[in-house]
Amino acid sequence: MATINDNYLKLKAGYLFPEIARRVNAFAQANPDASIIKLGIGDVTEPLPEACRTAMIKAVEDMGDRATFKGYGPEQGYSWLREKIASHDFQSRGCEIEPEEIFISDGSKCDNGNILDIFGDNNTIAVTDPVYPVYVDTNVMAGNTGAANDAGEFEGLVYLPVTAENDFTAEIPSQKVDLIYLCFPNNPTGATASKDYLKAWVDYANSHGSIILFDAAYEAFITDPSVPHSIYEIEGARNCAIEFRSFSKNAGFTGTRCALSVVPKTLTGKAADGSDVELWKLWNRRQSTKFNGVSYIVQRGAEAVYSEAGQAQIKGLVSFYLENAKIIREQLTAAGLTVYGGVNAPYIWLKTPNELSSWDFFDKLLQMTNIVGTPGSGFGAAGEGYFRISAFNSRENVNEAMKRIMEKLKV
Ligand code: MLT
Repeated sequence: MATINDNYLKLKAGYLFPEIARRVNAFAQANPDASIIKLGIGDVTEPLPEACRTAMIKAVEDMGDRATFKGYGPEQGYSWLREKIASHDFQSRGCEIEPEEIFISDGSKCDNGNILDIFGDNNTIAVTDPVYPVYVDTNVMAGNTGAANDAGEFEGLVYLPVTAENDFTAEIPSQKVDLIYLCFPNNPTGATASKDYLKAWVDYANSHGSIILFDAAYEAFITDPSVPHSIYEIEGARNCAIEFRSFSKNAGFTGTRCALSVVPKTLTGKAADGSDVELWKLWNRRQSTKFNGVSYIVQRGAEAVYSEAGQAQIKGLVSFYLENAKIIREQLTAAGLTVYGGVNAPYIWLKTPNELSSWDFFDKLLQMTNIVGTPGSGFGAAGEGYFRISAFNSRENVNEAMKRIMEKLKV
């Protein structure tokens, strides 16, 4: 009889967003006339930028001509895309990142999970709490944790609480950890990290031989010029950090799929025999073996993000969602709620009113206003009593959602 990976049995029954979808579907079936507005999962609603669409249509034509047809592409991505990313997203900000250090992929969620393939099973792993659930669940699947307690905390992980009391930035741990997940601008709290704060993490990582897994999927939403967009803006980060980025949220690629990971050639980890091994070589080996690259058509679409027209169009998209975030922040505040985030990020993090639990507030919001959000406790034990509202939706839906909250939920 084939056996299974028992680690999966330690996971909560469903991944957070499918679980929300399940509850919303049940509500919709019981209330067929309800006009439900989804401000839960951070999924984009606005169409792909014209520059990307035009480039993808041209790429489809390329595939229809023997002279320009493409079969398997490089597993790491086409050099013309990697070069543009290196120069535009990194070198222009003073980060010494070479095109070869960039690996094109089909998503940050996948990269965040897959990266564990190249690390040992004896690392001490730190996550913030609340946190993007993928970091925790993929470690559980990989067997890097014990069982969960009643609060949903897994044995063996180091949880770094982020709450209003510490301004949603985790304290640097006093103990030694080997892998640290950081996400800025943060999902779910919308908090940002200053250069000094990231420098403290980089110094910590370099002095302990730790690796920072830096998720910058929301960097395009940074409006404050003092906030760093990349961990590599911090001196020393080439020796301790891997960065993940995505075209999902800036260019609307959630359904199109394109992202990237950056693994500097200067990064090393320890082998069992005590020798230092280049992580780039392992990641390159992993991607070459388990991944066949992102389609030529999609990579041409991603390349168009860096054209003059593409840049203007993605700025328009980001500003549109940030304006939604501003409306949500202002209206929720006017409704008497305490809100955080939503300035340099597309997520608004609110304190649930009247000490309601996160799931109780989810139910109340759904039943009274037919609006879907994300319970803070779904992101970790310290998220209990908080709630996330996503700014990814049409202006019409955001205005309608805020009107309903003002009418029915004012506290
Ligand atoms: C979220 O809502 O947290 C994100 O959409 C999840 C993701 O990007 O995978």
